[in-house]
Amino acid sequence: MANLEKLVSMEDLRRRARRRMPRVAWEFLDSGTGAETALIRNRERMDAVTMVPRMMRAARVPDTSAPLLGRTWQAPIGVAPVGLQSLMWPGIEQALAAMAARQGIPYCLSTVAGESLEDIARVNPDFWFQLYPPTDAEARRDLIRRAHDAGAKALVLTLDIPRSSRRERQRRAGVGMPPKTTARLVADVLSHPSWALATWRRGVPTMRSLAPYIPSTDMKKMAEFTARNLAFDLTPEGVAEIRDLWPGQFIVKGVLHPEDAEKLIGIGADAIWVSNHGGRQVDIGVAAIDALPGIVQAVGDRAGIIYDSGIASGADVARAVALGAQMCFVGRGFVWGVAALGAPGAAHAEAILRDELSNVMSQLGCHRLDELKERLA
Ligand SMILES: Cc1cc2nc3c(=O)[nH]c(=O)nc-3n(C[C@H](O)[C@H](O)[C@H](O)COP(=O)(O)O)c2cc1C
Repeated sequence: MANLEKLVSMEDLRRRARRRMPRVAWEFLDSGTGAETALIRNRERMDAVTMVPRMMRAARVPDTSAPLLGRTWQAPIGVAPVGLQSLMWPGIEQALAAMAARQGIPYCLSTVAGESLEDIARVNPDFWFQLYPPTDAEARRDLIRRAHDAGAKALVLTLDIPRSSRRERQRRAGVGMPPKTTARLVADVLSHPSWALATWRRGVPTMRSLAPYIPSTDMKKMAEFTARNLAFDLTPEGVAEIRDLWPGQFIVKGVLHPEDAEKLIGIGADAIWVSNHGGRQVDIGVAAIDALPGIVQAVGDRAGIIYDSGIASGADVARAVALGAQMCFVGRGFVWGVAALGAPGAAHAEAILRDELSNVMSQLGCHRLDELKERLA
């Protein structure tokens, strides 16, 4: 068992996760698109956001509570939807969903996650469901109805995959669905015994929410199905149709332009989720953090503002909140936690992020999150 006291930062979790995951799973998680300039730019532009501490404010125990969509969360930190997570660490969806329920932070399940939305609802009745809509109208309606019946508190429609992107690093590493069984893959798996044992115990991951619509449990056929039968290239009419099918709170994810945000509010979005998919889609694309202020200004108080892409510490959460985000989601970071430590790593990652945020707020002299914007340099 790892010594938790020595895993003090997200970077510590990342390093340990990398050691414990087979290369093929690591490359799938870690990679960006193309030459990874967008991934690097997300980091560089985040680091460029600096803040000016104020003194004599005695903010020793700051309040990290974060209002969003009619609810007050314990921190502006959420678990982002990550597809095929159970390939990265078996049981991870359950571990993260349960942790989020305990800690009072939002959890969003991916359409292409390993667990079914019904099973996740049992662990976290306040879960959000991220939608890649099936092209088949009946399947689309059924999936949305199931999310509603299971009690999902919000539907999150992801817009930023008009087409699958070129993931050069993944291709080089032989990431595929399923990965080709080569001697290298077998050696890769066998040299990561904790992962191999956990996967063997839990069984090969599938896409359980989509299982009713896929005529096979074979991983290859499932992957082909998702590539062909999920509607990634949505039009405003397509978004409006989904909005009409969903009676609850409606969030659109992957927005980078104020005019798109404007259009989506017109269609009925309750929150705009600013994201460049963690640098996984377009390598010459703007850093998500640079897109945030313009969207915040355009949206005003007409909709909630959510942010993700490149959040790797509580300090990054403080930066994005200062620039107008009400909630910051973390994709890769929470996977690092569970891959590093198993299920307890979910809470450990959350504790690191929240403690860092709280500490940064004290250092800056902020009692509440809404004071952070006054500290921007
Ligand atoms: C391996 C991986 C799989 C992802 N799968 C999905 C998905 O199924 N649906 C979705 O909306 N976003 C997906 N995303 C994007 C995340 O929700 C989020 O936007 C991104 O990870 C944020 O960047 P970060 O990893 O730097 O926190 C995925 C990201 C990664 C890294």
